[in-house]
Amino acid sequence: MKAALLVESLTGNTWKAAEMVAGHLQDEGWSITGLDPLRKPTHSALQDADLVMIGTWVHGAFIIGQAPWAIGAINALPSIGGKKVVNFCTFALNPGRTLGAMEKAATRLGGDVVGGMALHRSKLAAHTEEFAARLVGALV
Ligand SMILES: Cc1cc2nc3c(=O)[nH]c(=O)nc-3n(C[C@H](O)[C@H](O)[C@H](O)COP(=O)(O)O)c2cc1C
Repeated sequence: MKAALLVESLTGNTWKAAEMVAGHLQDEGWSITGLDPLRKPTHSALQDADLVMIGTWVHGAFIIGQAPWAIGAINALPSIGGKKVVNFCTFALNPGRTLGAMEKAATRLGGDVVGGMALHRSKLAAHTEEFAARLVGALV
């Protein structure tokens, strides 16, 4: 499987999570065609990928109003028609409906959303390992 990762990160957690997931996937024999900021996608990396992984962080009032930061940047991505998409977010307390909002946005871009996972910022090692294992199990 070939995956391109697109990431929005303010303080580094989501970027770190993306690097960790990419490392686990490479250990399982996957190719990573790119790991780029969401706002600066590399078009060739997207074209070469079977799977696009979109990651951002949860923004809100912690217990209400949670949403994916950079939803505008997700909406502005080039078409990902025909690609499988997996979303992920990092959060501190409660991700709310962040993944649902990301799924809607990716579907509007023509992506085939096959899953997503919210990763707790203080459990990135365990959660990225589980995330990668689930992906490898689901997408052969
Ligand atoms: C302004 C602001 C609002 C936040 N709101 C929430 C929230 O509503 N729920 C939550 O679980 N985490 C919230 N967080 C925590 C971030 O989602 C979390 O720290 C995340 O890992 C940051 O990712 P980054 O390091 O990639 O920027 C908020 C952080 C900031 C700075």
